[in-house]
Amino acid sequence: MKDYRLDFPLLKRRYNDRALVYFDNAATAPKPQVVIKAVNDYYNLHNANIHRGPNFLSEEATLLYEGARKKVADFIGADKEEIVFTAGATAGLNLIARAWGENNLKAGDIIALSRAEHHANIVPWLQLKEKIGVVLEYIDIKADGTFNELSLDKIFDQPRLRVLAITQASNVLGQFYDLRLILKRAQAQGVLTVVDAAQSVVHNPLAVHDLDCDFLVFSGHKLLAPSGVGVLYGRRDLLEKIPPFLGGGGMIAEVKEQSFTPLAEALRLEAGTPNIEGAIALGAACDYLQEISWPEIIKREEVLKDYFLEQLSSLSFVRLLGGNEGRLPLFALDLQGIHPHDAADLLGEKGIITRAGHHCAQPLHDSLGIGASLRASLSFYNTTAEIDVFFQALQSIKKSFSF
Ligand SMILES: Cc1ncc(COP(=O)(O)O)c(C=O)c1O
Repeated sequence: MKDYRLDFPLLKRRYNDRALVYFDNAATAPKPQVVIKAVNDYYNLHNANIHRGPNFLSEEATLLYEGARKKVADFIGADKEEIVFTAGATAGLNLIARAWGENNLKAGDIIALSRAEHHANIVPWLQLKEKIGVVLEYIDIKADGTFNELSLDKIFDQPRLRVLAITQASNVLGQFYDLRLILKRAQAQGVLTVVDAAQSVVHNPLAVHDLDCDFLVFSGHKLLAPSGVGVLYGRRDLLEKIPPFLGGGGMIAEVKEQSFTPLAEALRLEAGTPNIEGAIALGAACDYLQEISWPEIIKREEVLKDYFLEQLSSLSFVRLLGGNEGRLPLFALDLQGIHPHDAADLLGEKGIITRAGHHCAQPLHDSLGIGASLRASLSFYNTTAEIDVFFQALQSIKKSFSF
């Protein structure tokens, strides 16, 4: 069995004389050497601005950047023209809420979200609520992490429903949502559909045309690529109608003293010099994952998930948030007698990187009646031996808290 840990320079680090166990992939993934090399190569060999100069460096940089757009498009089953590079999932969601929302919604229009959303898919809509008076409604989540159908029906019954903005996987419950039926239902009612794929995109193959959503966003850094780059997928007809969110260089066909004409294509939404090296490295991350292949990634993550759940079931002081079925290898834990921050701190001292808090999903934690949880989020390169290290450490921390 190949040891994919070896592809990641970060994982060679030791802390307090222990091997690093990186269980915080949902916050940000470590970067494989091929991705780091793509960034370095850009600076060492091709450093130039794109779409600008008639010189070989700019031509190379432009080819690499536009080549990355094609790689990302292929990775999610989209056309190149449907891909807008953004600064990340948050930037993409803000762009939709501002550029589409402000121009297409009115006071009293309803935006449906699930209770499992990350703040990135709540706050931009709350800002729109403050600005133009839209109404936010939340789909309830059942104890097993799935959507409550009754609450879904209630929301879909509302004639003022205009937008369904929903996550494909919860960054707390770990639940992966098969959104196809919900999206169909929304589209049949003329409701705009926005999918947050920030957590799901690195665990499952994505075919946006089959999913049939209007918009979808994700971040590069959770997909093994650098931070500061992300993707907004949009249906072409919609992208072409969105007024440019930011104005500046790179997005215009013509500028006069008193007027401007934006480009027709997706580039109109990429004003200014973008994160060129980030986009190129995101293309390299897509290549890397495709080379490993989805069946291999899914097989490995299933093994890790089953093993984690098995080990967890013998611990009486830990409650898993969400259910066992249909989840990613992402586990938020409610610990009896230990504050999650203390647990994460002490795990960190043993070289185990986890995350504690509300994970930018405060409404979800409120609805669960807890303030914070401890999250361990795994990826295909992690091992069952690392899971053993995690649980041994957690048990010894519990013991030290019991006196
Ligand atoms: C489900 C989900 N959506 C959106 C985001 C925001 O991503 P970013 O901070 O990279 O923009 C995150 C980040 O944790 C997330 O988990």
